[in-house]
Amino acid sequence: MQDLLGAEHYNTTFAHSLRYIPSDQITVYPNSFLGEGRNGKVYRAKRTRPDGVLATSLRGQTVEVALKELKATGMSMKFARELDLTYTSLGGSSVGCVAFFGISTITGPDAPSRSLRASTDQARKFVLVSECANLGNIRDFLCNELPKRTFQESWILILDMLSGIANGIHTLHKHGVIHRDLHLNNILVTETVFPDQPQGLSSEISAKVADIGEGQHVADPGTFNASVEARDFHAPEILSSRTWSLASDVFAFAVAACKILDKRQELCLERPPENVLKQAGSESKPVDDGSSVLPLKLSRIITSGLKKDPGERWAIRKYIDAIEDLDGDFSSEKDQGGMLRIEWVTLDWWTAYAEAYERTPVGQDDAQTWSAVSDAT
Ligand SMILES: Nc1ncnc2c1ncn2[C@@H]1O[C@H](COP(=O)(O)OP(=O)(O)O)[C@@H](O)[C@H]1O
Ligand SMILES: [Mg+2]
Repeated sequence: MQDLLGAEHYNTTFAHSLRYIPSDQITVYPNSFLGEGRNGKVYRAKRTRPDGVLATSLRGQTVEVALKELKATGMSMKFARELDLTYTSLGGSSVGCVAFFGISTITGPDAPSRSLRASTDQARKFVLVSECANLGNIRDFLCNELPKRTFQESWILILDMLSGIANGIHTLHKHGVIHRDLHLNNILVTETVFPDQPQGLSSEISAKVADIGEGQHVADPGTFNASVEARDFHAPEILSSRTWSLASDVFAFAVAACKILDKRQELCLERPPENVLKQAGSESKPVDDGSSVLPLKLSRIITSGLKKDPGERWAIRKYIDAIEDLDGDFSSEKDQGGMLRIEWVTLDWWTAYAEAYERTPVGQDDAQTWSAVSDAT
């Protein structure tokens, strides 16, 4: 492994378990382009493992994987950096993140006729090999899925998505890594099918955090600047002093939650039940369209994540607990066939967002203008 990466890019912690996946195990599919960002291009491929030597080993197992090639060629500093961060964050457990399998080399999907083994060092491209997120990014997934859901089901879906994202951020934070580049193109969705389960339990859909290429070790003040394109996800202190922290990831998490709520509001076709509207409104301010109605516990999650002062935002672990707690309310209420446990309120989340910047709130239009910027990344 050290020979492959070169001594200057080799990190001794890699010796324990970073895997080099031989390129003859990887086959890139034709027309397999999955997406690209500023730094990389991602392709769908299959990985076939040879038969194991033990009787218990899986025989010739094939799995779908995603290959990420950085636009800079060769074993650049950037690749080594992304590898280091990805490995540090996901080498052990990768709960809530797109799983990372190891690195490999390809000659590039554009040059499939060249023998991989015979490729020269220069033509050889290093790739990060990860789990393939088969349902794409969270924005596309929600656009597809939300119109099919009832009011109540839409909230359960939102909580599942938020739980995945919070768990992903927590995995990074636990390993001392700040993501710094959380936005909707870096949140992907996977569906795992369990063919032997009875109906209803047959698949699991999860949102997962991806793309740790702009991350930063907490302990490292770092000279690398993160991508500034998704700047609507940047906490106010980043604009003022360019300081990233665990709390700035929490702010980005809350912004992602606001954008997910926008999608629910736009695409869930079922109107909130009358009792929900009644509870969320007051005599002086009745709620008629239900557009900004949400569970009280979720409104607390969002307002706490959007605090101007990073010290006032909760640590990410607390968001996981709060989401689980609310999810529990929804499940227990499902048994009773009503919406009994949930307390409903209204929140104009983009006003809460603007307050963090001490800007005059201009509502969702503002967010849309800003999101156009990050949608391009
Ligand atoms: N594991 C994956 N499975 C499916 N699609 C992926 C995967 N990783 C990345 N993509 C797609 O490729 C795009 C770019 O990948 P990303 O790692 O974010 O690169 P960049 O560092 O250039 O932003 C993503 O927005 C997503 O659409
Ligand atoms: Mg990206």
